[in-house]
Amino acid sequence: MADTPQRPEKSIALIGMMGAGKSTVGRRLAKRLGLPFVDADEEIEAAAGLSITEIFERYGEAHFRDGERRVLARLVDGPPRVIATGGGAFMDPETRALMHARCTAVWLDVEVEILAERVGRRDQRPLLKGQDPLTRLRDLAAVRNPVYAEAPIRIRSGGLAHDKTVAQIIAALASAPPADCPG
Ligand code: S3P
Repeated sequence: MADTPQRPEKSIALIGMMGAGKSTVGRRLAKRLGLPFVDADEEIEAAAGLSITEIFERYGEAHFRDGERRVLARLVDGPPRVIATGGGAFMDPETRALMHARCTAVWLDVEVEILAERVGRRDQRPLLKGQDPLTRLRDLAAVRNPVYAEAPIRIRSGGLAHDKTVAQIIAALASAPPADCPG
């Protein structure tokens, strides 16, 4: 049985592209760390009483991003937990600043070819619907990866099984510099 890792003092925010495995890895990571898990996309849906697809269809992306910003602000303010964020959350400057201040952001960096394979051609995510996933993901990654790279921890989780990714995150957290101290 593996040792129980030390419980982090700050929330851990998993960031990265659609299909990177943030929710699955997040759930398992939370269990290993003894922290609660929360999926930001599910919280946005619960707050709106609509699915993400419905929010995009009825009100558009800008409205979704407003809701996402509000939900993330609430989540990072709470007690330490593992937060799986939607792929665009860290792109918002306010959300990013909050995550830098209150969380340890962990970028799950997965090659676009693997992401495209995982999401498949019939993915219903609003940003992929009706488009060639590889082309779309490649375009999004070109814009987003330099911003995701601001995260203090980057895990190249490629073709790894999710449990291996969890182990890599735990190792990275253990060797990361301690949480910011005032002064
Ligand atoms: C989005 C990713 C989705 C969801 C929404 C927008 C994005 O979450 O928030 O469809 O902008 O990349 P996942 O990354 O969990 O798929």
